[in-house]
Amino acid sequence: MKVIQTISDLKAELKAQRLANKSVGLVPTMGALHAGHASLVTRSLTENDVTVVSIFVNPTQFNDKNDLAKYPRTLENDCKLLQSVFEIFINKELIAFAPSVEEVYPEPDTRQFSYPPTDEVMEGGFRPGHFNGVCQVVSKLFMMTEPDRAYFGEKDFQQIAVIRRMVEDLKFPLEICPCPIVREEDGLALSSRNTLLSPAERKIALTISQTLFASQNYAKNHTLAETKQWVIDTINAVEGLEVQYYEIVDGNSLLSLNTWDDSDYIVGCITVFCGAIPVRLIDNIKYKSC
Ligand code: PAJ
Repeated sequence: MKVIQTISDLKAELKAQRLANKSVGLVPTMGALHAGHASLVTRSLTENDVTVVSIFVNPTQFNDKNDLAKYPRTLENDCKLLQSVFEIFINKELIAFAPSVEEVYPEPDTRQFSYPPTDEVMEGGFRPGHFNGVCQVVSKLFMMTEPDRAYFGEKDFQQIAVIRRMVEDLKFPLEICPCPIVREEDGLALSSRNTLLSPAERKIALTISQTLFASQNYAKNHTLAETKQWVIDTINAVEGLEVQYYEIVDGNSLLSLNTWDDSDYIVGCITVFCGAIPVRLIDNIKYKSC
């Protein structure tokens, strides 16, 4: 595994690989890697000759500067985790690309991306500017790496929908590969934020995934509106949990639906505040897959 910190070194390395006709997979991350990220890296290593894992805490996607300052930066541990994932692969190459902020943004990025409704609803409404920052950094990573495939987790379901729109808009010649949510054994979606939960909070946080799973059954004999309300009420009934939003949406447009017959691809997306100093947790569940 190679660790690269500059764009020129990355480009030089990839140019040589491309001349040898090697395929390139990109896994964008902000570090603090866990088994969720590892699943994306494993998939890319399986499907490509060369995998680039970017590790970059992107300042432009944080609308809360405190959140940016607090974001864990654990490059040494991240490299250890990547090395352990990489160990079993033969004839493959893994590059950890960990640039500085100055390297990625030598000048302030003034580009504006707008992909309504995907970037306006849900997270878009509660975190203004977030998806613009995501598009800024992901478009730069695409231009630096020119990957054949890029891997994103369905944990951030809305992020994939926004990035798909950007790829169509800017005609990036690559394939977006969505990867399923990796969960703890008990069902909690893996997230770097889970480490911020106290043991008691960790326990109540489990209600989120359990309620989403149970709602798939509930949905079989209840309307969409009833199911949505049931999920919100069940989670809010637990002291220490507060639903910020729960939306049942079309999996492509992310527009809210009124009935189960309105789409062939239906996903429920939730954000919940957990605990006294609230940790913001997101999760989602599929009711209909296309
Ligand atoms: P980050 O939160 O580090 O996540 C990197 C990738 O890992 C994302 O595609 C995310 O959906 C995926 N991921 C995180 N937890 C997961 C889980 N439990 N199961 C499956 N996949 C999971 O998302 C970002 O970084 C940034 O917005 C980024 C795209 C890197 C742009 O800065």
